[in-house]
Amino acid sequence: MTQRGTYSFDNDDPAAALRHRLLAEILDPFTIARLGTLGDLTGWRCLEAGAGGGSIAAWLAGRTGPGGSVLATDLKPQHLRPGAGYEVLRHDLTAEPVPGPPWELIHARLLLSHLPTRVEILGRLAAALVPDGVLFLEEWASAIRGVVLAAPDAAAADLVERYYDILVGQLLPANGNDPAWGCQVHAAMLAAGLTEVNTEIRASSWPGGTAGARLIAVNVAQQRAGLLGAGLTTGDLDRLCELAEDPRLVVRGIFTYSTLGRRG
Ligand SMILES: C[S@@+](CC[C@H](N)C(=O)[O-])C[C@H]1O[C@@H](n2cnc3c(N)ncnc32)[C@H](O)[C@@H]1O
Repeated sequence: MTQRGTYSFDNDDPAAALRHRLLAEILDPFTIARLGTLGDLTGWRCLEAGAGGGSIAAWLAGRTGPGGSVLATDLKPQHLRPGAGYEVLRHDLTAEPVPGPPWELIHARLLLSHLPTRVEILGRLAAALVPDGVLFLEEWASAIRGVVLAAPDAAAADLVERYYDILVGQLLPANGNDPAWGCQVHAAMLAAGLTEVNTEIRASSWPGGTAGARLIAVNVAQQRAGLLGAGLTTGDLDRLCELAEDPRLVVRGIFTYSTLGRRG
């Protein structure tokens, strides 16, 4: 039987819209800079898989022009906006064939790490490209520990490290997430026969109150039961939400691995 996992941050959750806004604020500038290396996208047919809030689908739609097209897919596509220049398709990448047409560009960000059959999916995405088409995968390498750069006190630092260990070391993997997948994408693309594979890696500091640190509160909202089950208290969770807004807390942003490869 195919292992499908359970996506950890359900789009039906009331916190999901904020998650998508924060992810766009954190990640879109780097994603767009990398897309800029591909040159003129006019006329390209682009697939944005696991499109979330649709910010990159909308950006692509503004670049492909009337001769091109953008299809944004998601397991739960309610945060996407049909009419924003891209088409929307409810689609499960683990269980359904990659939708057509053959694509000049397929982009997926923070998606395959959540899907246990990620290597098989990568192969299917590569096969859905036109010759010379580009597969663009971006993932967080969240297995890299030691996230607190500064904190108001030692107890706060310890709490944030414990929260991160539980989330990344226990709760997400229990749902099929591989927190080290970002570091493996480059080799997986080579193994799938892609050429011109190149990776850029980025992380920066996230002080409390910025989008990156505010993700802590969104994660607490969406993983509350799991965090409590792993030993944190309701007081700990309240404190984490305060710290997410406290500029005296500074966490190291999660390393983003951004990998591009071409179908030969
Ligand atoms: C962490 S969010 C990232 C959203 C967006 N790519 C971004 O980076 O801002 C992952 C998205 O993938 C979607 N997703 C999860 N499992 C999926 C699946 N099996 N097929 C398609 N989309 C899926 C989720 O619903 C969610 O919108």
